[in-house]
Amino acid sequence: MTATTADQIELEPRHAEIVSATLPLIGAHIDEITAEFYRRMFGNHPELLRNLFNRGNQAQGAQQRALAASIATFATHLVDPELPHPAELLSRIGHKHASLGVTADQYPIVHDNLFAAIVAVLGAEVVTDEVAAAWDRVYWIMAQALIDLEHDLYVAAGVSDGEVYRRARVVSRVDDPSGAVLLTLGVAGERFSDSSPGQYVSVGVTMPDGARQLRQYSLVDVVAGGELVLAIKPVGAAGDQPAGEVSSWIAANVFVGDVVDVTVPFGDLPAPAGGRPLILISAGIGITPMISILEFLATQAPNTPVQVLHADHSDQSHPLRQRQRELLTQLPHATLDIWYEDSPTAGQAGVHPGFLTLDGIELPEGAQIYLCGNNGFVQAVRSKLVTRGVAAAHVHCELFSPNDWLV
Ligand SMILES: Cc1cc2nc3c(=O)[nH]c(=O)nc-3n(C[C@H](O)[C@H](O)[C@H](O)COP(=O)(O)OP(=O)(O)OC[C@H]3O[C@@H](n4cnc5c(N)ncnc54)[C@H](O)[C@@H]3O)c2cc1C
Ligand code: HEM
Repeated sequence: MTATTADQIELEPRHAEIVSATLPLIGAHIDEITAEFYRRMFGNHPELLRNLFNRGNQAQGAQQRALAASIATFATHLVDPELPHPAELLSRIGHKHASLGVTADQYPIVHDNLFAAIVAVLGAEVVTDEVAAAWDRVYWIMAQALIDLEHDLYVAAGVSDGEVYRRARVVSRVDDPSGAVLLTLGVAGERFSDSSPGQYVSVGVTMPDGARQLRQYSLVDVVAGGELVLAIKPVGAAGDQPAGEVSSWIAANVFVGDVVDVTVPFGDLPAPAGGRPLILISAGIGITPMISILEFLATQAPNTPVQVLHADHSDQSHPLRQRQRELLTQLPHATLDIWYEDSPTAGQAGVHPGFLTLDGIELPEGAQIYLCGNNGFVQAVRSKLVTRGVAAAHVHCELFSPNDWLV
């Protein structure tokens, strides 16, 4: 595992000293550096923005902040190995990269453009040869940790490095009453039966301007024939934010018989340990990994004690509501609590009005907690759990947007 590799590699004291001294300066200019970096990289390699990176994230700056925060966190660990090792951070990035087919030969592209950006923003008189050499070392220690981790993930998935894409045919499409579109995708000659609950795939579609855009979708289920089931909720326009590009396009254009690119599954949510109590907490479309965990429990460990907590705007917007209830009937030790901000059904057994709250919810000692929703929801519930004394190691978060805070 790469964490061990990174643990073994230390910065030489002279590099550590320079990195410590310049971290605040890099930190103070990190947004400018990353903006300049992406501008240069996409100028030199426009195909990366068209066909690999998520241009919605680029427009919003979310991914830029995620990359910047990850390097700063990693550098902080290197100069102070007493701090917790950022294994969780590397794992999340490594799985994301693997699900996009990132390969070792692409790391020099990021390196060269990033370092050119650092010089452009801070000036050559600040970025002396010594400063550049120290940060070069940080970059390559982190890059090598990721390259090794990604290689291990490719080996574990039984594919050559970066060879993750498959052509998948849509074998069924169901329009959920919530607006989510359930697609079942089959890949000729491939069964995805050994994926783990909570994993995701990247789906690639060609947009009207010819760009191939990729997005991640959690597996809701893997059905008997080895086909993948995904639930895609179109992101609507809100205020001055345009509608989501890929989710809206898929909902409007992808039907039975159509072909899309799909990757083999990745994702580091741990598989639930049989017998230990589970708590599944989701909001909105963040329900998808929870449904896959419930599908897994229904067939593999139906006696597991499980508390399901879900938040949504209303029963109309609650994705996979019917399937969630069906699965709970197959789990004799499961309970369900739902919070609707706005719903006449509030008042039914287990249905509460307003926002999800953990007040009055028992959190059994040692329970494994899975959490998924938008960043604000995950952040708020996670801190509540920590306040209630839950060990951070027992809380497994999935985020549907780039992680610029958990790092
Ligand atoms: C691990 C993982 C699992 C996921 N699982 C699921 C799942 O099971 N189901 C599901 O539906 N989704 C899932 N997602 C989310 C999914 O990958 C997409 O992010 C989602 O479908 C939105 O993609 P989009 O192309 O429609 O939106 P994008 O075009 O990427 O837009 C995203 C946001 O950016 C804003 N934006 C875009 N362009 C601009 C601009 N120029 N200016 C300002 N704002 C802009 C949009 O308004 C929108 O709010 C998952 C994500 C991850 C990382
Ligand atoms: C040391 C070098 C690198 C670091 C520190 C890094 C860091 C990150 C981080 C933090 C994320 C966001 C993960 C999340 O979703 O939370 C990310 C995503 C991503 N990375 Fe990297 N990365 C590196 C190298 C590369 C390389 C070489 C490529 C390929 C050219 C690449 C392509 C991507 C892509 C395409 C995404 C997803 C972006 C999106 O969909 O918005 N990265 N990376």
